[in-house]
Amino acid sequence: MLKLWLRAFGQGAALVGVLGAAFFTYKQIVSPRRPRTPAKRVVHIFYDKEIEEAVAPHAARETLSAWKYNWRLAGWHPRILTTFDSQHSSLHDDLVHALSLARYKHASEKETSCLMRYVAMAAVGGGWLSDIDTVPTNLQPGRDLPNNGNFTVFENEFASMMSGTRVEFERVLRVLLRRLRKGKVSTGVPGVCSDKHTLRTMVAEGQILSMRLVIPADFWSDTATCANMTNNRSFAIQFSQASIENLGYLVDGRGALMNRTMDRWRACRNKNTLVV
Ligand SMILES: *[C@@H]1O[C@H](CO)[C@@H](O)[C@H](O)[C@H]1NC(C)=O
Ligand SMILES: *[C@@H]1O[C@H](CO)[C@@H](O)[C@H](O)[C@H]1NC(C)=O
Ligand SMILES: *[C@@H]1O[C@H](CO)[C@@H](O)[C@H](O)[C@H]1NC(C)=O
Ligand SMILES: *[C@@H]1O[C@H](CO)[C@@H](O)[C@H](O)[C@H]1NC(C)=O
Repeated sequence: MLKLWLRAFGQGAALVGVLGAAFFTYKQIVSPRRPRTPAKRVVHIFYDKEIEEAVAPHAARETLSAWKYNWRLAGWHPRILTTFDSQHSSLHDDLVHALSLARYKHASEKETSCLMRYVAMAAVGGGWLSDIDTVPTNLQPGRDLPNNGNFTVFENEFASMMSGTRVEFERVLRVLLRRLRKGKVSTGVPGVCSDKHTLRTMVAEGQILSMRLVIPADFWSDTATCANMTNNRSFAIQFSQASIENLGYLVDGRGALMNRTMDRWRACRNKNTLVV
């Protein structure tokens, strides 16, 4: 009887061993390739080639290459959204209709692109959205969306980075649509998007949340020390036109500047990090 029990126990242990090994193998081989929550490691950008590359195609492509490179190096999966993605949201037609009615007021194509990105984000289920001039510093991939997925902006400028669930992107989009229908959207400045004005108003009125976690590029000068570059617990850094001009660079050099600055930042961070 005791022998039988021992044998059953032995077989059980062997079975547990085999299952354990199988699970371990699964974790080693399968899971790294298929992260359980891919959306948490995805950063989105809205990039409509025709619009973005209409004025300065080379500069736009360079900036996009630097944007992708620096997000990837921080462990993120960059996903480029286009009008094609927007078409999967029922709000796409609403936006196109509202834009056509407001056509006489809104001069720039860029404006269309700025509003269309909210539709695209709603269509892909929400998450993180970054502007083309913004790359991560201390923001880690895989974390939950801040504030339980409530719509959040991370000023420096109001539209540099945003996060929220699909429902939240739709909610903000409906506010933008209402303003568009009332003719309140255009900034009157070509190439400048009006959505950041709406976001600013919504923050002031407590309709969306704001965390000051994006620093402007000129926060670090060319001569900034490592202590200077690593003492601010920002999520990201924004190479806006104003901030790179403050540093004495032209928009043409934005992509190269993003690469160079972030290479310096990574070197500083690695030097300061004792445990990798
Ligand atoms: C975010 O939204 C949830 C509901 O989804 C709400 O319960 C919560 O209080 C909100 N959090 C903040 C920080 O506003
Ligand atoms: C950063 O730079 C400024 C001068 O530009 C200096 O006053 C400050 O102490 C520096 N150090 C840190 C840790 O920020
Ligand atoms: C980092 O610096 C910015 C820019 O001045 C500031 O607004 C922000 O509060 C700082 N953030 C943190 C987390 O220290
Ligand atoms: C930034 O660096 C990456 C990696 O070397 C490169 O692929 C990309 O083209 C660079 N972009 C610019 C504008 O220098």
